[in-house]
Amino acid sequence: MGKTRKYDLKIKMSYTLLINIKKLLQIRDRGTSYVSGKEMSEIPSIESAYLVINNGIIEEFGEMKNSPKDLEKFNIIDCKGKMVLPSWCDSHSHIVFSGNRSNEFIDRIKGLTYNEIASNGGGILNSVDNLRNTSKKDLLEQSLIRIKEVISQGTGAIEIKSGYGLNMESERKMLEVISEIKAENNILVKSTFLGAHAFPREFLNKKNEYINLIVNKMIPEYNNAKLIDFVDVFCEKGYFSLEDTAQILEAAAKYGLVPKIHVNQFNNFGGVALAVKHNSLSVDHLEVLTKHDIAALKDRITIPVALPGCSFFLGIPYTPARDLIDSGLPLALASDYNPGSAPSGNMNFVISLACIKMGMLPEEAINAATINGAYAMGLEKEVGSIT
Ligand code: NIG
Ligand code: FE
Repeated sequence: MGKTRKYDLKIKMSYTLLINIKKLLQIRDRGTSYVSGKEMSEIPSIESAYLVINNGIIEEFGEMKNSPKDLEKFNIIDCKGKMVLPSWCDSHSHIVFSGNRSNEFIDRIKGLTYNEIASNGGGILNSVDNLRNTSKKDLLEQSLIRIKEVISQGTGAIEIKSGYGLNMESERKMLEVISEIKAENNILVKSTFLGAHAFPREFLNKKNEYINLIVNKMIPEYNNAKLIDFVDVFCEKGYFSLEDTAQILEAAAKYGLVPKIHVNQFNNFGGVALAVKHNSLSVDHLEVLTKHDIAALKDRITIPVALPGCSFFLGIPYTPARDLIDSGLPLALASDYNPGSAPSGNMNFVISLACIKMGMLPEEAINAATINGAYAMGLEKEVGSIT
């Protein structure tokens, strides 16, 4: 008797039925990996719908009149008056960090720019000092607080970058923390190695040696330990040049690691074309974009990613979303959650900014933060749409 009851309970636990959904949004067939151009202003949906979830996987859905009649095995959630849509897919974050940089926020109010703050000893290297002095356990605890917060705000999948360690031991610490967040299974996680986020202080006068360390030691070792899904580079003046970036992406390619890179945040010098040439899955930031960049992205696998939170907090231009979408390209939206340029991982805020500051329609912003965000981290078969 006891055994049977346990068994029933297990079945019931695994099946969830959502009924009376006012509108079920973002219904896609299996073949749709992302949406671009005009398609971005449409969100296929069903009014008065039901949805069956079996062990975290969508099993069936449709109009309420066709919903399952045998209700015994289900946990039922009545969604009367509510819309249901995929959770946010945040394809660019630096959510694993230690402490905060609120002092820089004050400096910015006083008129200093991101680069002036960095040259005065702040910026990325400030977070590096902090992270190197933080234990792995403490780093995980601090990061999990943020993870729980973004989950409560609707994020269901997130890409997380390293890049505040900048030496063998501390980059590994970050990547292991990302792995542990992955293993908790509360949110889908992709891990990106961003050793090329900045040159660490101890290598400022021997930059080639740091690139050699990334190429010959970090990438092979972390890849071997299965700690990384993607590789990123901050391709920007004062950080990593086109040549540095090419060298790192070539090394990554030897291990089959796909790039997702930071380009065109403050300066435009050919990063987009380089990323496309190296089959980057995404190019992120793009606040400073030309017609040539847009042309380089046409009919490629590389998806542009806008980070409006960063533009908002730094007071820099927004990515020209209209130019990108109106020229037929796809666009994804992500939070860039980090302690310096975007101290928020709230995707609802990101979507609001996209509409208010970038002229995106709500449907375009929702597509950009669901199916296109999923594509930008290689998760389009698992999340981002009701399929
Ligand atoms: O995406 N631009 C480079 N990296 C981050 C900022 C990181 C930081 O300031 O700590 C960004 O904005
Ligand atoms: Fe970033």
